[in-house]
Amino acid sequence: MPAVVLVGAQWGDEGKGKATDLLGSRVEAVVKFNGGNNAGHTIVIDTERGRETFALHLLPSGILTPGCIPIIGNGVVVDLGVFFDEIDGLTARGVDTSKLVVSGSAHVITPYNRTLDKVTERFAGSRRIGTTGRGIGPTYADKMNRTGIRVQDLFDEPLLRARVTAAAEYKNQVLVKVYNRRALDVQAVIDELLGYAARLRPMVADTSLLIANMLDEGRTVVLEAAQATLLDVDHGTYPFVTSSNATAGGACTGSGVPPTRITGVIGVVKAYTTRVGEGPFPTELLDEQGDRLREAGAEFGTTTGRPRRCGWFDAVIGRYATRINGVTDYVLTKLDVLTGLEEIPVCVAYDIDGVLHEELPASQSQFARAVPIYETFPGWEEDMAKARSLDDLPHTARAYVAALEDMIRAPISAVGVGPGRDEIVTVRDLLG
Ligand code: GDP
Ligand code: IMO
Ligand code: MG
Repeated sequence: MPAVVLVGAQWGDEGKGKATDLLGSRVEAVVKFNGGNNAGHTIVIDTERGRETFALHLLPSGILTPGCIPIIGNGVVVDLGVFFDEIDGLTARGVDTSKLVVSGSAHVITPYNRTLDKVTERFAGSRRIGTTGRGIGPTYADKMNRTGIRVQDLFDEPLLRARVTAAAEYKNQVLVKVYNRRALDVQAVIDELLGYAARLRPMVADTSLLIANMLDEGRTVVLEAAQATLLDVDHGTYPFVTSSNATAGGACTGSGVPPTRITGVIGVVKAYTTRVGEGPFPTELLDEQGDRLREAGAEFGTTTGRPRRCGWFDAVIGRYATRINGVTDYVLTKLDVLTGLEEIPVCVAYDIDGVLHEELPASQSQFARAVPIYETFPGWEEDMAKARSLDDLPHTARAYVAALEDMIRAPISAVGVGPGRDEIVTVRDLLG
């Protein structure tokens, strides 16, 4: 099963990092194909030193698997300061980062794009997206506008100078004249980028060729998404989305792996729903039930520390994620967080202006008015952290999993019962 895509099914933070990590040492390479340091993946590993927690933002989750080659694909936007800080932080904790490879076609997040992300959000006021403020949107906008700076540009100083000068002069006009901010020192921007070049150079390669060679040798490569289906710039809840393609299609454009080589798509889906930032969220709980999910699930952002908005599982979204991504297997995470609830509501359809919708409406105006229609399932009391097979789960939890599987129309092949690497119920081999 050579090229496997792994995507988030909801609004992010489903546990993609843990899901990638558990695929383990059978994976030759993990390729991050979209997003940047807006992502936050928390991975918990039990070692002889005790339980260790790693928070990754920019580096692919495969970096924690000894022997695995972590690759930053062309579809990623790279903040080089964060990149080297993350490498240094992991190295200090004994993680081998020497195999890391970066595409020369990945775009670089420049200081003016970080600044513009923040000032445009402030300017938008109540119309803001609630971005992570990392410069993601402006950097992807530059890429599409053909004014972006790419990793390979750092190794051609005259070209870099010309491209940064052209871009920064324009951005400075915008900063000063539209937003009444100070202009950035163009020379300082160039110097900052050039300062990274020597350390970066040995890590840069033609990553699509590297991956193609691995696939030719029959090795398994995981193409790992950041963000998720409903944050995808085309298929998500636009404009309350990120600026990249986080769905399975983005795995091809963001890595250079053609669709004909993809053999499976793993969807990661949480047993309830969370969202960070603004935008519609039909099953959101604004009461103490939402607070309970946030506390029990530790739903605070890995990147910005913001409390995540919480709500019940939405099967309409699950069905949509299955369809848009062509999910072949799901990893259902955080089932343990629902332990102790007497009843668990699941949204099975929407009422929009008095009309029943079993599929996600294509119109965002309609989605914003969607009222969830719930079916309620009995809960369970038993602790499930030690469960490793479906038979170890309380029968009502098994029934909940079976009902979700039926509603989202793809097999649930693993169930998360705790944050730890081995706290997982395995139903079937995800790489089988
Ligand atoms: P990602 O962005 O999709 O990689 O997800 P995050 O790491 O941002 O958020 C998922 C959080 O849930 C992390 O803190 C994980 O350690 C944790 N987690 C993952 N799977 C499980 C699970 O099955 N149970 C519990 N209790 N926590 C989990
Ligand atoms: P992972 O990979 C959850 C959200 C932001 C904001 C919107 C746009 O950990 O699942 P951006 O900075 O990307 O322009 O912000 O997208 N967002 C995420 N929400 N998990 C993420 O990543 C996210 N990355 C971006 O909160 O609403
Ligand atoms: Mg996250």
